[in-house]
Amino acid sequence: MDKQKQIVEMFDRIASRYDLANRILSFGMDVGWRKEGCELALKRLGRRENLKILDVACGTGDMILHWQDRLNSCEFIGVDPSEGMLKVAQSKVGDCRFLQAQAQNLPLDDESVDVISIAYGLRNVCDYPLALREFYRVLKRGGVLLILEFMHNPNPSFLDSMGLFYTQKILPILGGLISKNKQAYTYLPNSIEEFASLETLKEDLVKSAFVDVWAKNYYAKISSLILASKEK
Ligand SMILES: C[S@@+](CC[C@H](N)C(=O)[O-])C[C@H]1O[C@@H](n2cnc3c(N)ncnc32)[C@H](O)[C@@H]1O
Repeated sequence: MDKQKQIVEMFDRIASRYDLANRILSFGMDVGWRKEGCELALKRLGRRENLKILDVACGTGDMILHWQDRLNSCEFIGVDPSEGMLKVAQSKVGDCRFLQAQAQNLPLDDESVDVISIAYGLRNVCDYPLALREFYRVLKRGGVLLILEFMHNPNPSFLDSMGLFYTQKILPILGGLISKNKQAYTYLPNSIEEFASLETLKEDLVKSAFVDVWAKNYYAKISSLILASKEK
């Protein structure tokens, strides 16, 4: 079976326990990272009304809830290839159109959305530069891309290595117990190790024609927020 299919099937299997595992394993810190990402993206866009917001790799829909908390009279679309994750999202999130699709091939028109978010999803996309090109195609001129991700850290400082100890050693054990799927939470640190560094992702965004690429790290570089724009 190809790698992308295996990844999606793994999310299908953990869908019902994903939210619980997420909250416990991040000590709820992801909520603050998501809030800050949404606020900074909207500030950069300079508008809060009549927006079309696309959340790619939407999973169980948490990011869409964050968008809905701060926006009125906007249209929301969630895209994910996992049927299991989408089912949970549909049970939690109203007023949103969900589409089962991959980031590499979005079923949306050119220049049709104002904001694209992808939270902890890009690492799971095989051939992610292809997805970056899709994001660029689908974003309107002046539109904003928000990425939250666990990036590979090739040169960890002493403090960073504490974060790495948590993600590489503790998290697979805890995640395995909570989700009852050890394989999924062994995949997590491995996928971070195999993923791009922040510097590489920033270069890839520029290569895909994004401008004003900006990034910030959270807690021992455990998580990173990246914003990029499509030129006006
Ligand atoms: C770690 S979860 C993140 C879910 C959600 N964005 C969140 O913040 O909780 C990763 C998600 O990426 C999805 N995914 C895997 N491969 C993908 C692909 N090729 N395109 C889009 N999403 C993908 C999975 O189905 C899963 O829902």
